[in-house]
Amino acid sequence: MRACIVYSSRTGNTRAVGEYLAGRFLLPLFSVAEAPSSGYDDFVLGFWTWRGGPDAAMLAFMERLQAKNVFYFGTMASLPDSPHAARCALRTDRILEEAGCRVLGHFFCQGRLDPQVLAKSTHPRTPERMARLREAARHPDEQDFRRAEACLRRALGAGEALFPAKGVHASCGA
Ligand SMILES: Cc1cc2nc3c(=O)[nH]c(=O)nc-3n(C[C@H](O)[C@H](O)[C@H](O)COP(=O)(O)O)c2cc1C
Repeated sequence: MRACIVYSSRTGNTRAVGEYLAGRFLLPLFSVAEAPSSGYDDFVLGFWTWRGGPDAAMLAFMERLQAKNVFYFGTMASLPDSPHAARCALRTDRILEEAGCRVLGHFFCQGRLDPQVLAKSTHPRTPERMARLREAARHPDEQDFRRAEACLRRALGAGEALFPAKGVHASCGA
């Protein structure tokens, strides 16, 4: 069984988490554009959140996966323990399960929203939203990296093969 990390990232947040995990778990790392179509059974997939789910490039990749073991992580402007994040996880689980994949767990953290996107955004600039986006601008940070690692380790199970046969579904947020 071979494992790799595949990420999709517009502005670098998700790539940073993927790079950290690749270093800690000594896994090969691919951007979704260069992801291998064969040769791997186990995947750690990273996406930036787009309209409450995986971004389009990662969505297309997920839909092509068949019967793989998957742990996924996402970066988002929203809080990782928010209802928005919970809906995103449900959506992502469903996409992967429809592809026949086994979902082992996931991790979410905030990630800075592209300032150019924010400047053009027509969403109301409520104090609550602006505070959330200021916080997002400080992520992912070292603590996010360590939490992502801990979450992936928990999903894998100590001392077992990279992705164990018995299912654990670990979800980690903030
Ligand atoms: C077009 C667009 C749509 C987005 N939609 C969402 C969303 O639905 N929910 C959310 O929490 N964040 C959303 N975001 C924020 C990004 O997911 C977040 O900033 C992410 O960390 C960007 O990751 P990247 O640097 O890897 O591209 C959106 C960003 C863009 C540019």
